[in-house]
Amino acid sequence: MYDLKTTATDKPALYRDLLSAADALTAGEPDAVANMANVAALLFDWLPGLNWAGFYRSIGSELVLGPFQGKAACIRIPFGQGVCGAAAARATSQLVADVHAFPGHIACDAASRSELVVPVIAGGAVIAVIDLDSPDLARFDGEDRDGIEALATLLALRICP
Ligand code: SME
Repeated sequence: MYDLKTTATDKPALYRDLLSAADALTAGEPDAVANMANVAALLFDWLPGLNWAGFYRSIGSELVLGPFQGKAACIRIPFGQGVCGAAAARATSQLVADVHAFPGHIACDAASRSELVVPVIAGGAVIAVIDLDSPDLARFDGEDRDGIEALATLLALRICP
C-alpha cells in the first residue's frame, strides 16, 4: 500500500526523509502497535547496514519486546540490564561502537557488533526504546543518534499504550 522511497545521498537528508515518512505513516493513527510496526519496517528498509530494528516497551519494571524487523529476539529485559535496559534506566541514548565492550550486553543475535538505543519519553517517563543493531563495528554515530532522537520525539504521543 505504501511505497515510500528516499533519494537522500547524505545522512542528515536521510533522517529528514525518514522523519517525514514516519510522520506521514503515523499521523492520525491512534493504534500504538500499528505505528511501531510501520516505523520498524521503515527503519529496517531505509537505514543501511542493520540486522535488527524495533521497539521494546516499558511494562512494569522491565522492557517487553514490541514490533520489530530482524531475527526473533529476547522478549523481556529488566531496566538496567543490557544496552536497552541502560537506555531505559538512565533515560538517555546509548551509542555503542562495540557491543562486546559493553558490560552486560544482551546478545540476541550473535552477529550484532554495534548498537544504538534511544528512549522514547512521554509524560516524563520512558515508555519505550528504539533499538537498532548492526553487524558492523561502529555503524552508528552522532548523526544517527540525533536522527533517531528526533524520531523518538515525534513518536512519543503516537506509541503511547
Ligand atoms: N542487545 C540488546 C538486546 C536487544 S536485541 O539487540 C534486539 C541489549 O543489550 O539490550
